[in-house]
Amino acid sequence: MSTAKKDYKRITTKSVVEMKKNGEKIAMLTAYDYTMAKIIDNAGIDIILVGDSASNVMAGHETTLPITLDQMIYHASSVVRAIQRSLVVVDLPFGSYQGNSRNALDSSIRIMKESGAHAVKLEGGSQISESIIRILTAGIPVMGHLGLTPQSIYKFGTYTVRAKEEEEAEKLKEDALLLEKLGCFALVLEKVPAKLAQEIAESISIPVIGIGAGNDVDGQVLVTHDMLGMTHEFHPRFLRRYMDLYTEMTTAFESYIADVKSRDFPNDEEQY
Ligand code: KIV
Repeated sequence: MSTAKKDYKRITTKSVVEMKKNGEKIAMLTAYDYTMAKIIDNAGIDIILVGDSASNVMAGHETTLPITLDQMIYHASSVVRAIQRSLVVVDLPFGSYQGNSRNALDSSIRIMKESGAHAVKLEGGSQISESIIRILTAGIPVMGHLGLTPQSIYKFGTYTVRAKEEEEAEKLKEDALLLEKLGCFALVLEKVPAKLAQEIAESISIPVIGIGAGNDVDGQVLVTHDMLGMTHEFHPRFLRRYMDLYTEMTTAFESYIADVKSRDFPNDEEQY
């Protein structure tokens, strides 16, 4: 059991900032459905992210761009119904906040009202500052996301490590300071050099939650289907697999098929 499970009855945006102050690492995982969220929440996770990675993992799209606001709300409300303790953060999907702060506010209000989630996450720095300010004025907590921002994949061209060059690293540091100043309660830093991530985490008071950003940040996030080994064709260096569910599930499905075909299932005890 994590220390957080013992110490916090219910995780809030305040609790995660407190965890950083107390030097307690923050554990975050994704979930998109009721059953998975219930297991993760019960295990003692601090934050559940209803990520737009649902576009890849749940819907089979190549990128996160196609998922819609309605679909995110569907996933988020399924997750919220399952949780008793975790903080639930929901990604604003591509097209629901960029370039129009009114749109950003409307999208965030829909997420909060229709799903019951606790906060939203947006990708980007100075270019979306107006949207962040406007969402915050409605009392909606905002988590930032810098470094590799998958909604901009067609601008980057690849999913490789970001901010290896001085210029991009400087911009990243400025954006992190800006997000703190604007009032974000935390930020995700994806696929950046560990030294840079450490420098950023040490320079701001809000928690930095890394994915592929080394160990010297304030917390870690992984896509649950990746860490369970369900998406076995995806193996970036930062991913630690805690199970090989792809193989285990395949074996279970093969056994079921064989049992049905051989008339072994159902047996006398498995019928009325
Ligand atoms: O959508 C997602 O799952 C994410 C995490 C990778 C941080 O944004």
